[in-house]
This record gives sequence, C-alpha cells and structure tokens, in this order.
Amino acid sequence: MSQSPPPILLGVNVDHCATLRQARYRSHALDHGDEVEPDPLAFALACEAAGADGITMHLREDRRHVQDSDVQRVREQMTTRLNFEMACTPEMVAYALRLKPHSVCLVPESREEITTEGGLNVAGKKERIGEIVAAMTEAGITTSLFIDPDPVQIEAAAELRSPWIELHTGAYANAYYHAGRARELETLRAGAEMAHQLGLTVNAGHGINYTNIAEVVTLPHLHELNIGHSIVSRALFVGIATAVKEMKAFLL
Ligand code: PXP
Repeated sequence: MSQSPPPILLGVNVDHCATLRQARYRSHALDHGDEVEPDPLAFALACEAAGADGITMHLREDRRHVQDSDVQRVREQMTTRLNFEMACTPEMVAYALRLKPHSVCLVPESREEITTEGGLNVAGKKERIGEIVAAMTEAGITTSLFIDPDPVQIEAAAELRSPWIELHTGAYANAYYHAGRARELETLRAGAEMAHQLGLTVNAGHGINYTNIAEVVTLPHLHELNIGHSIVSRALFVGIATAVKEMKAFLL
C-alpha cells in the first residue's frame, strides 16, 4: 500500500507585522501595552492558534522591523517552533546561542535591500558558514541555509553538514507572470531533488503567495514553507486566523 507524503509544514514569518508597528511607533518603548500595535507576539500566538507549525523572525542588524524584545517574548511564550533568521555575523551568532531557538536560518543581509533578496553564497564562504553550522549543532540548534536552487550551493550545504536548506523561491515568484516561470519551477524541482538525494531536509520560501502556492506544493520533498508578506497582507482583509487556515489548506 503506498503511503501519501506527510503534509508540508507552514512557518509564518511575522516580520511584516513588526514592519507595520515600526511605521508608527519607531521611537516608542515597546512596553506601552496596547498602545503599541500591532504586537508581533500577539500576531505569532494567533498564527499558532490557527494552525501554523512554526514562527519565523528575522532580527536584522539595523533592527528595522523585529526588535530584540519581540524575539525574546515570542521565544518565551510560543508553543510551536521558532525559526530565527540571521546574518552570519559574530553578534547574531552569539545572540542565537543565547536565545536557543529551535532552528536558525542563515541569510545574507545587506542594509540596502528591502527584504532578503538573494541566497547565501555558501560555496564562497565555506569556512565561516561551516563554523556557524558546527556551533549551532553543538548547541542543539538545527541550521538551515537559505540558498538559491543552484547545484553548487546545494553541494556546499551538504558538504558542511547543514541538516536543512531553504530554497529561495524569489526568482520563481518574480517570474510567475513572465516567460521564465516554467524554467524557474524546473530549477527548483531539480534543486529539491538533488538536495534530497544528498540527505538534506528541504524547505522553501520567499515570495510565496495564495496564487503561486498551488504550483509550489508540486515540488518534491518539501518539509516546510516559510511565508510572510502574503499572509500578513491577506490578514488585513480576512483576519489572521483565516489567512493562516487558507494557506494551510494548500499544504494538506
Ligand atoms: N524565507 C526567508 C529566508 C526570508 O528571508 C523571507 C523574508 O524575507 C521569507 C522566507 C518570507 O518571504 P515572504 O515575506 O516573501 O513570504
């Protein structure tokens, strides 16, 4: 009897809830109770209550959206898993080792970009990234590497014994209404297949929405999708519980 694959897990990225708060309350102390809204902790807990399997937060070097206290409060009060997105800096490595999230996702970070624009160059920074993977593994934290679906990067991630990768779906999402869409989907498919063969757990994220998700879920071996902007945007119209449930329905 053939078994159906397990459902794909949904990690909700709550960074853009913090973006909305920072648009008004940038200089406020964040402990003003209900005055400082929307609260990423309340948002994260509502995502969990609606069925999210994990929460992702990216504490950026410039603290443009998520603040240190947001991460701490979510870590303390959440009931699922915290996936802590971070740059490969000594400050963030030390922070993650203190925080002890369930997983870290290493991403490239530059001050100019609005959100994370490209994958991590693992092949070009093997020594540094290898040290971080080893330190996280030693601390019992699962590492994920956010990479483009590029065989060179996938090979490097496997070589460094990162247990997880997150395939960058941004190029596919950007090509969705253009001629390159089928090619980008095929590149993701080949990348997921290769990563699985090399023993990597395959996650994916960036630019996934309620339209392109139907095609994204056809990719093989997906463990978890990390989705932020589209869910936060939809929540404005239908509420966060419905937004999460509607996305979850695509993954079952
Ligand atoms: N995965 C990673 C590694 C990211 O950096 C981001 C956001 O920048 C996401 C997933 C979520 O992307 P989006 O907000 O487009 O859903």
